[in-house]
Amino acid sequence: MSLLEMRDCDVFYGKAQALHGVTVTVGEGEIVSLIGRNGAGKSTLIKAAIGLLPLRGGTRLFEGADETGRPPEALGRMGIAFVPENRRIFASLSVEENLRIATVMGRRGAWDLKRIYGLFPRLQERAASRGDTLSGGEQQMLAVGRGLLTNPRLLLLDEPTEGLAPLIVRDLVAAMAEINREGVAILLVEQNLKVPLQLAQRQYVIDNGRIQWEGGTEALLADRTRVEAMISL
Ligand SMILES: Nc1ncnc2c1ncn2[C@@H]1O[C@H](COP(=O)(O)OP(=O)(O)O)[C@@H](O)[C@H]1O
Ligand SMILES: [Mg+2]
Repeated sequence: MSLLEMRDCDVFYGKAQALHGVTVTVGEGEIVSLIGRNGAGKSTLIKAAIGLLPLRGGTRLFEGADETGRPPEALGRMGIAFVPENRRIFASLSVEENLRIATVMGRRGAWDLKRIYGLFPRLQERAASRGDTLSGGEQQMLAVGRGLLTNPRLLLLDEPTEGLAPLIVRDLVAAMAEINREGVAILLVEQNLKVPLQLAQRQYVIDNGRIQWEGGTEALLADRTRVEAMISL
């Protein structure tokens, strides 16, 4: 049984259909990536998964139970955390205050402030700095740290490495692997294959609101030219 199953999902913005019968599953403790070019439907799928967008067709299952109608708060309590593309850092709060807010909102569990600082030492150095003084990489670490403080079983990450320098991406990849070793499943959204090939066990390629390819990392490497064509601009 999957931890999350989005089955045959149709999502609309008004009359415009953004997802057509999309099925994506994430197993317990798995890293799965959803790859596609700009406008393909990645954020739409992730927002539908956390309940921010309604399904007009299809179902959302969490641990096999139909949770299609659940609002984001309920899904958060069940253990799904969402780190959005724009990271939503509180600009006027310090790094530590941004983190403490998440501990108030989340579930109790192993992830606490100390472990977040262990995972991202840079955040500890910047603990007293205001949100609006952080670099892009620091903002992303803070956003991931905030998600973890809710003690999720599944972390939804929308383009976490977008616009970040290679060295920062390397640190984030190491952190995501560490988070996963602690038993947290990850649905990783990316626009290219670089990070998915390093981290994920399974991949979905989406374009025009439809899953165009799916398979394991070996299969992706074997079919790389065709997949690259689906996601290139
Ligand atoms: N709020 C919105 N209102 C109307 N259309 C939207 C909205 N958000 C996204 N779309 C459209 O839905 C499609 C998928 O968008 P999105 O899921 O954001 O793509 P991605 O995250 O892969 O770049 C695009 O055609 C986009 O223009
Ligand atoms: Mg997006």
